[in-house]
Amino acid sequence: MSINVLGISGSLRAASHNTATLRTAQEMAPDGMAVTIADISAIPLYKEEVFQAGFPAAVTKLRDQIRAADAVLIATPEYNFSFSGVLKNAIDWVSRPPSQPFDGKIIGIVGASGGRLGTARAQYQLRQVFVFLNGQVLNKPEVMIGGANSAFQDGKLTDAAAIKSLGDMLAALATAVEKQR
Ligand SMILES: Cc1cc2nc3c(=O)[nH]c(=O)nc-3n(C[C@H](O)[C@H](O)[C@H](O)COP(=O)(O)O)c2cc1C
Repeated sequence: MSINVLGISGSLRAASHNTATLRTAQEMAPDGMAVTIADISAIPLYKEEVFQAGFPAAVTKLRDQIRAADAVLIATPEYNFSFSGVLKNAIDWVSRPPSQPFDGKIIGIVGASGGRLGTARAQYQLRQVFVFLNGQVLNKPEVMIGGANSAFQDGKLTDAAAIKSLGDMLAALATAVEKQR
C-alpha cells in the first residue's frame, strides 16, 4: 500500500533546519511511503482582492498537493514564541473556499529551533489553527528538536534522539493513514 506524504516547511531559509528535517524524513521514509516537499516560497502575501480575482498559481498548486496527499507533515520554526508568518500566510491562502483541503486531513507537526524547547510553543499555536480547519493533527509523537545548531550537519538531521522521534512520527502517520482507509 503506498502512502503519499506532503512535507511543508515553515522556513524559506536556504539552510533551514526545518526543511532539512523534511529532507531527512524523505530519506528515512519507510517502505511504501513517499515524502514530497512543497515549495511555498512563491505564495504572495494574502490579500482579499487577489483572492477575489482567483487563486495565484502557487496557492492552487499547494491546495492540489494537500488534497492529493494521504497526510501532511509540517516542519515549523519558532519565531517569537509562535510559528512563522510565511507558514500562517500559506495556511490562510489554502483555507479559502471552496473546499479547504485540510478538512479531515491527517497532519503531523514537527519543528526545529535554536532554543531548548524546540518549537513547543509554536507547535501548540499551530495545532490551534488546525482545530478551526478540522485537520486531524496527531497528538503523538511530539517531535521538538531543540538546540538545532548542533542537531544538524551538512543539511541533514544527525541527532540520534531526534532521528528516532522523526521515525516514530513517520510510522504514526502511516498507521493513521491505514486506519483512515
Ligand atoms: C524572527 C525570529 C524569531 C525567532 N524566535 C525564536 C523563538 O521564539 N524561539 C526559538 O527557539 N527560536 C527563535 N528563533 C530562532 C529560530 O528558531 C532559528 O533561527 C531556526 O533555525 C529557524 O528555523 P530554520 O532553521 O528552519 O530557518 C527566531 C528566529 C527568527 C528569525
